[in-house]
Amino acid sequence: MAGRKSRKSRRAVTEANEVAKHASMLTGTAKTQLLAATSVPLPKRRYGPAKQRKQSMLQRTAAHICNYWLQTAPTFRIPGVKIEQLAERSKPSKADKSHATKVMDEMADWESDAFSAKKRRQTNAVKLAFDGIPPDIAEDALYASQVLHHFLRPHKSKKDGRHDFADFLMRYKREGEVEADEDKGKDLDLRDKDEDEDQDDEDQDQGADEDWEDAPTKFSHAGLEYEFANEYENSECTGVSHLVHSWQMQGHHGKAQMELTAPKVEESPLKPSADMFRNAQVALAVRWYMKRTSKLALALKEMFKVAYPDEFNIYEKAFEAGVWEVADPGPWLGRAIVWKLNVLPHRDGLDGGPTAIFCLGHFSGGEAYLTDLKLKLWYRPGDVLIFRAGDLYHAVGPWKAEGGVTARGITPGRVGNVFFSPAHSLRALKGKSAGWMKSTAGGALPSSES
Ligand SMILES: [Fe+2]
Repeated sequence: MAGRKSRKSRRAVTEANEVAKHASMLTGTAKTQLLAATSVPLPKRRYGPAKQRKQSMLQRTAAHICNYWLQTAPTFRIPGVKIEQLAERSKPSKADKSHATKVMDEMADWESDAFSAKKRRQTNAVKLAFDGIPPDIAEDALYASQVLHHFLRPHKSKKDGRHDFADFLMRYKREGEVEADEDKGKDLDLRDKDEDEDQDDEDQDQGADEDWEDAPTKFSHAGLEYEFANEYENSECTGVSHLVHSWQMQGHHGKAQMELTAPKVEESPLKPSADMFRNAQVALAVRWYMKRTSKLALALKEMFKVAYPDEFNIYEKAFEAGVWEVADPGPWLGRAIVWKLNVLPHRDGLDGGPTAIFCLGHFSGGEAYLTDLKLKLWYRPGDVLIFRAGDLYHAVGPWKAEGGVTARGITPGRVGNVFFSPAHSLRALKGKSAGWMKSTAGGALPSSES
């Protein structure tokens, strides 16, 4: 790692994309040092959950909103599109992906639209009401996600074609011109008085990054220096985390079969994903994150229940059999958290059925593209899409981090969230009793209950 703030070099490359690309080429000690310098900061602790709503009340409210959505949301049929035909396509191919990219480019200037708001008549006007994730729960989930990724460093795989490996760092402003909503006082009533006083002191430290002058700001690669931080901007590492209760190690399961009724093939035992317990500290952070986001998961669960009742029952039974971390209410067996990355057109070939996606964070842009359907959807934090991500090509439009680090220590940028159940896990868990994964070590051992 070379350079400090005081050693300005004329030769240093500063353009964010170029710096990120060369950061992705680092290896060994240089890579380790860069990842340490661009780690996800731990937000401030002083805030409690955004609202102390009772879980049962939240569930009742969510169920009411979802049923209202079911009764009132308009439905559309797209002429010439048959989901069965799209689902029958073979594994995602390069040609299909480049076609999806072309369609996405063609739609770049389109306005994005929203399809599923519920409506209420007020006098003669029709009012569209928000029916996504309640803002306080979404904002708290963002906080929880950043805490998690402080401990669970975002990881990138060259094999993951859904993201560009060169998109290795996200550049953001240290201090924002616009404060995020959570800093405008709506959380204040949730803290006790002493905490408020302490917090007032902390809030003076906008950006909470006074020590940056002592931190590395540049790295060297192939004879050039690259600047990833300065007085005004900083960089954060990007990546994807997989929190999956039960799945088979990559390459240890047969070809993905979307039909849950397909003949059972010889399969290796199920295991929780490695990110669930990368180390002891991570295991604790994952449990904390699952608990802290349980209300978010409950809201999504209610949406899934009304939107796909048949699949919901299958997923829930599989979840009960395959759950590892019980702080998660299910019914999806896994979560992928896409930390500050762009999302290229793709299908998720291993998903077993409907997947829920939503985003969190402070950013502009980032519309959802469903290129098979030629849809470009308004897609802001708290908006939820539940769809067959294994059957339909989808992507996220370019986005830009907005604002700076908030008083709470939240860094800007987009956090994608994917709640999914792997097809092979659903197959392996079909017909299994509740708690099967834990009592049989994923099928490797006789039941410990007997
Ligand atoms: Fe996806």
